[in-house]
Amino acid sequence: MKIKATVTSIMIGFLAIVSSSTIGADGAHTTFLDKNARFHPVVSQLGMVVSQETIASQVGADILEAGGNAIDAAVATGFALAVTLPRAGNLGGGGFMMVYLAKENKTIAIDYREMAPLSANKDMFLDQNGDVDNAKARFSAQSSGVPGTVAGLLHALDNYGSMSVSEVLKPAIKLASKGFKVNHDLSDSLLLSSKRLHKHKASKDYFYKAEGDYYLPGDVLVQSDLSSTLNRISKQGGSGFYKGKTAELIVKQMHRSAGLISLQDLANYKVVEREPVCGSYRSISLCAMPPPSSGGVHLIQMLNILENYNLAKLGHNNAASIHLLIEGMRSAYADRSLYLGDPDFTPVPVQKIISKSYAKAISEQINPHKARRSKDVYPGLDSWVTSQSNESEETTHFSTWDKHGNIVSNTYTLNFAYGSGIAVEGAGFLLNNEMDDFSAKPGSANGYGLIGGTANAIQPKKRPLSSMTPTILFDANNKPILATGSPGGSTIITIVLQIILNWAEFGMGIAEATAAPRIHHQWLPDEVYYEKGISQDTLSLLRSMGHSIQPKSRVLGSTQSIAAKENYLEGSADPRRQGAAAISQNN
Ligand code: DON
Repeated sequence: MKIKATVTSIMIGFLAIVSSSTIGADGAHTTFLDKNARFHPVVSQLGMVVSQETIASQVGADILEAGGNAIDAAVATGFALAVTLPRAGNLGGGGFMMVYLAKENKTIAIDYREMAPLSANKDMFLDQNGDVDNAKARFSAQSSGVPGTVAGLLHALDNYGSMSVSEVLKPAIKLASKGFKVNHDLSDSLLLSSKRLHKHKASKDYFYKAEGDYYLPGDVLVQSDLSSTLNRISKQGGSGFYKGKTAELIVKQMHRSAGLISLQDLANYKVVEREPVCGSYRSISLCAMPPPSSGGVHLIQMLNILENYNLAKLGHNNAASIHLLIEGMRSAYADRSLYLGDPDFTPVPVQKIISKSYAKAISEQINPHKARRSKDVYPGLDSWVTSQSNESEETTHFSTWDKHGNIVSNTYTLNFAYGSGIAVEGAGFLLNNEMDDFSAKPGSANGYGLIGGTANAIQPKKRPLSSMTPTILFDANNKPILATGSPGGSTIITIVLQIILNWAEFGMGIAEATAAPRIHHQWLPDEVYYEKGISQDTLSLLRSMGHSIQPKSRVLGSTQSIAAKENYLEGSADPRRQGAAAISQNN
């Protein structure tokens, strides 16, 4: 028998469940669990897959059992999620994959982020008054960047996998052609997005019944056009997507909906392997995604700032420690707004931002008892450099780990749930709305309230700045100990930060670290987001320190993590969203 846990079955021995159903930022229907709940993590002495959707986790675990490595399992899981989790799993989006190769003791960062089409330009989302047209930036065919997912997954497989394209695609093709049983999560989320998806004929046809009704839990969803696209990829590799019939269908869709992606854009798409951004927190070290994701840089920056305090002594999630987290987040996101962008287009001062001495200088500006105002906090690197003259909603994460110690930590996305809402007619998949992650105009906020400047302005072939933070942690002996990541737009970086602090600073197990309530601050708007389970006393104390607390609690992210213990793995699927599962390999 496989040790298999869906979110419900891992809640053995839970103490209390607050079943306040909430709609996540991405439109996902989520259930938040009380902070006293205890979850048994899933354990394995062999390999493991943790993802947002049970069937896709099983696909990955089956690949491990068939002798595949962590990379084979990740690629199979990624393609399966494109079928079973259409709001975030994708062929029409992009993402980032961190790979750890045990034999070489090497960590690799694979960038398969979308690229702006050749005919994109910096003012493309401005109206005649020079204001940002948010509908155009988020819900039109022009909101789609050139998809990177297929190239990225195949790059990982070609270079680090052991199986053929057809072997890893087989389960996804079967799920698309024969169909799979819709779960509550998918049914709820299709209901929530019904208005948006009904605006586009192909999207309506693919994700709703003939009469336009939505699928109920237990109904079977068959995706024949998607299965044909997957078949073309299986037979022709990347050319099955970026050339020939699929490429033509994408371009036809662009013509139909006034989009920009051309055959040349598709043929030009490039995966980039980048030097991971690495740092340390006390005795642990970590490697994460470098620009064009801001995730790794600011995760390390916040850890560096917080290393200057004894958080464990202050206590988990009390006012004193949360205050310091907020102030660290405030400074990091101020820097993000100015310094971060695609490194192929703009120099990003990564080493300066992640330096311990810059973090020390920031920590010296933090009053441990009083909140700063974001309007008084600026991107800090320039003044620090001067003062140093003697010497800146919907995604999904999955993690895989094989019995040889190879690891994948992967986050990919269409941006919002169901991306732009526009499916490619005849090809069966949705297109991203990732162009909204660019800064459409300096100082204007994107869909997550993030402010950006010229470093993240739109340019042809440029990649929009991301917050995705797939991360791998190592112990003092450089042995990998944790793979983690999350969806959540702008909140991703602070979510991963809290998983690491819960685990490494507050000594929690990975399941407890996952379930613990989270907070978020992103400089602007100057507001603290919090989850249910942060006590009212704590919130009152934070208010008295001068923090502006959002009136309504939110659900923050959905982490899918694997931690290594002495001689076994512990997996934890986040209980915040339905359907996630950690599934172990048993033989
Ligand atoms: O790359 C980014 O930062 C965003 N496009 C991620 C979107 C996301 O996480 C939505 N999920 N809830």
